[in-house]
Amino acid sequence: MHERTRDQENTSPDPSLSGSGLGSRRSFLGVLLGLGSFFIGALLSVPLIRFALFPLLRRTTELKSSPVGDLSTFSSLAEPVICTIRIEQVDGWRKAISEKAVYVTKDSQGHLSVLSSICPHLGCTVPWNNDKKEFICPCHGAIYAADGSRIGGPSLRGMDTLETSVRDGQLLVRFQYFRQLVSDKEVIG
Ligand code: FES
Repeated sequence: MHERTRDQENTSPDPSLSGSGLGSRRSFLGVLLGLGSFFIGALLSVPLIRFALFPLLRRTTELKSSPVGDLSTFSSLAEPVICTIRIEQVDGWRKAISEKAVYVTKDSQGHLSVLSSICPHLGCTVPWNNDKKEFICPCHGAIYAADGSRIGGPSLRGMDTLETSVRDGQLLVRFQYFRQLVSDKEVIG
């Protein structure tokens, strides 16, 4: 009786090798493998995704300097002269070329300077009034001196000066946009 019981114990099937046990072990390994593949795939795809999205995620490139004209043409400048410059801006995959009006003038020390023609009040283009020898904005009447400094009107600051440089006898300017309706010059693009 005792021996029969031992025989029965020896021949009874291992529960871990039963159909349901094998199935659950296989499905656990399958899940583990799936998770591993997913994480490795995700890890490998990060550089690819970053590469693909880079032009969209990066900031719009800074504007390069644009030629304004030969330095010699501005040597005997008596009053502000308007010039059109071409600016190139890359935004994602899009490259835009536009034209902007700037004024070449002299600052308070008599040095050449370039002013944005965009009114710092609300963005109208400011013309030079040759009779009054002032810049007078047609929109709300802001008045600026020949060097761009504020004389009167609703604008909280003078006209915005742009960064200049000289290369091979050419006057270059870096066009930028500035925040309107504020007293301090603040670059916004
Ligand atoms: S936009 Fe020039 S004064 Fe308002």
